[in-house]
Amino acid sequence: MTKSIRDTAVDRLTEKQAKEELAALAEEIAAHDIAYHQKDSPEIDDAAYDALRTRNEAIERRFPQLLRSDSPAKSVGAAPARGFRKITHTVPMLSLGNAFTGEDVSDFIDGIRRFLKLEPDEAVEVTAEPKIDGVSFSARYEKGKLTVAATRGDGSVGEDITANLKTIKTLPQVIKGNVPDLIEVRGEVYMTKSDFKIMNETQEENGAKVFANPRNAAAGSLRQLNAAITAERPLQIFCYAYGALEGAGWETHWDFLMQLEQWKFPVNERTTQCKSVEEMLHAYRKLGEERATLPYDIDGIVYKVNRKDLQTRLGFVSRAPRWAIAHKYSAERAETILEKIEIQVGRTGVLTPVAHLTPVTVGGVVVSRATLHNEDEIARKDIRVGDAVRIQRAGDVIPQIVEVIAEKRPQNSAPYVFPSTCPVCDSLAIREEDEAARRCTGGLICPAQAVQRLKHFVSRDAFDIEGLGGKHIEAFFADGTITSPADIFTLADRDKKSLTPLRAREGWGPKSAENLFASINSRRTPSLERFIYALGIRQVGQATARLLAQAYGTYEAWRDAMLAAQDQDSDSYKDLINIEQIGSSVATDLIAFFAEAHNRDVLDALIQEITVEAADKPDIASSPIAGKIVVFTGTLETMSRSEAKAQAQSLGAKVAGSVSKKTDIVVAGPGAGSKLKEAQTHGVRIVTEAEYAALIGS
Ligand code: IVH
Repeated sequence: MTKSIRDTAVDRLTEKQAKEELAALAEEIAAHDIAYHQKDSPEIDDAAYDALRTRNEAIERRFPQLLRSDSPAKSVGAAPARGFRKITHTVPMLSLGNAFTGEDVSDFIDGIRRFLKLEPDEAVEVTAEPKIDGVSFSARYEKGKLTVAATRGDGSVGEDITANLKTIKTLPQVIKGNVPDLIEVRGEVYMTKSDFKIMNETQEENGAKVFANPRNAAAGSLRQLNAAITAERPLQIFCYAYGALEGAGWETHWDFLMQLEQWKFPVNERTTQCKSVEEMLHAYRKLGEERATLPYDIDGIVYKVNRKDLQTRLGFVSRAPRWAIAHKYSAERAETILEKIEIQVGRTGVLTPVAHLTPVTVGGVVVSRATLHNEDEIARKDIRVGDAVRIQRAGDVIPQIVEVIAEKRPQNSAPYVFPSTCPVCDSLAIREEDEAARRCTGGLICPAQAVQRLKHFVSRDAFDIEGLGGKHIEAFFADGTITSPADIFTLADRDKKSLTPLRAREGWGPKSAENLFASINSRRTPSLERFIYALGIRQVGQATARLLAQAYGTYEAWRDAMLAAQDQDSDSYKDLINIEQIGSSVATDLIAFFAEAHNRDVLDALIQEITVEAADKPDIASSPIAGKIVVFTGTLETMSRSEAKAQAQSLGAKVAGSVSKKTDIVVAGPGAGSKLKEAQTHGVRIVTEAEYAALIGS
């Protein structure tokens, strides 16, 4: 579709243009539905998507004779993805119409009044609920027992996610008291913003898929063919509707929500009741103010006519009920000027472009920086210094540049050229094949990398040295006081003999200097896990550090193994890549770290100053699986895969990701496939989950 036609007002379109545009819109919207509902990776934001649908509906209204059989107005979402059993909803799962302005809301209420022929003094009572930005589900309870659960799919046919949904702990498996013969409870699966952040960090550490936002993370986690993976994801739910229902009824929607609460279904506590358009708009504004600080993403407020008898009379139009509407919040966006692009150098040498913006308020917060991700992102959006840009802040996420406002581009602007050398040490910055990031090759001589590594070393999840913040590290590095981790621990001794002791330096006094020495001293016995993480080795985040600590137990054992693993034919190398979740790519980075003489020197100097605590290995002597190599395969029923793994490791076993003739025990649950066959070929001992539990005495 050419831009010029899309920009033509609907009432000026010729019939031919309208026909063409409807065809294009049908195709475009269907493609976006698939990207959003099946692939969990939308290509446009919700506002742009809504705009396409709104335009489609406007054209259809003006040219009803052109209504297509595949009109987007007739469909909700996208057909179910392959791989899941299909479930036909007995009562379709519909969508909601949208309101964007106060006028739309009052039109909604006026429409209802007209439809029901209400007297002018008769109030329309509605509930106002946060519109959770998640994935909808329908869970069927027969005689109070959860039997089947499904996604919305295209509204008529969804996917069977029973096993997945059952892993969500807050979803009741049985209904107790007032049990209806049948009820389909409907609601939204979501992930909190903070859980999303933590999960994405772990995904990134493990080289796994990183999600764009909490909604996509929830959708991706829910639609796992292996429910054991879903079980490990931090999913939550809110319930707000029902589908099929037999043997129960309520006078109002509010009463129904109270019943849900009694049955122990999570119901959103910010739901209110309103008696007028003013009260509805008040609820909208109030929730809007809270939006940024809510633990989960919302994209609007849903108003529902409270009385069930009125709902029945109002009924449905095409894909939405006449008795409910979603009043949307705009994404938190604003326009500003990109003043400068700064290139920051991270601890592993990655060059990250950061946008410096003319400060602007977005959703109540002043923003002056935004992330630009990497050089491809800048090129793709053709972002130039001096451009007017639209920025967006979604929840807690760092602000992003959504687009350049082309009409406002200064005449003399030039495409941004990403530097090919490090802005700090001038070494060549190169991009390896298949990598999005460009890295400084300066390594040890690059001061930026050195400073970032030190900052990481003292950070909260690493050595956690209080009173030694980023600014201090920068100053100490600049004057040569601290250039390597060991220097931190020799600081107090050196300070005693120094001609410029800390207590006499600017910004320091005797008290703050003593406090710093004390907090450094309190960190001389880190756990092995923290120690490994603190080294800032590429791809070795907290999760990997924990795995390594559990696998090797002591610093010496780990170091010796990493040195021995340089030889890829060695057992040490095989042991390393046999640790589940540590693949050859992480192994390469670990080996490369130890291969560097300077890194070994840094470690040797550091270990003189501290004592690394061995990882916990409780009573391994009496453990029946100590020293054994265990592989878990298939679905585990009593615990998650991670829990099983941690438990086996704590009993002294090594948990491997694949079966070889060195494997001692394979624990096979339902659905076990190739690993089970492999075990049979090698004559490895195979046990069920119950037999395994008996073996370890749990
Ligand atoms: S009621 C027939 N209530 O928004 C009424 N939906 O755009 C069906 N949603 O498909 C929906 N929070 O996935 C309803 N409190 C809420 C909601 C909510 C989020 C989602 C739901 C629905 C979509 C419609």
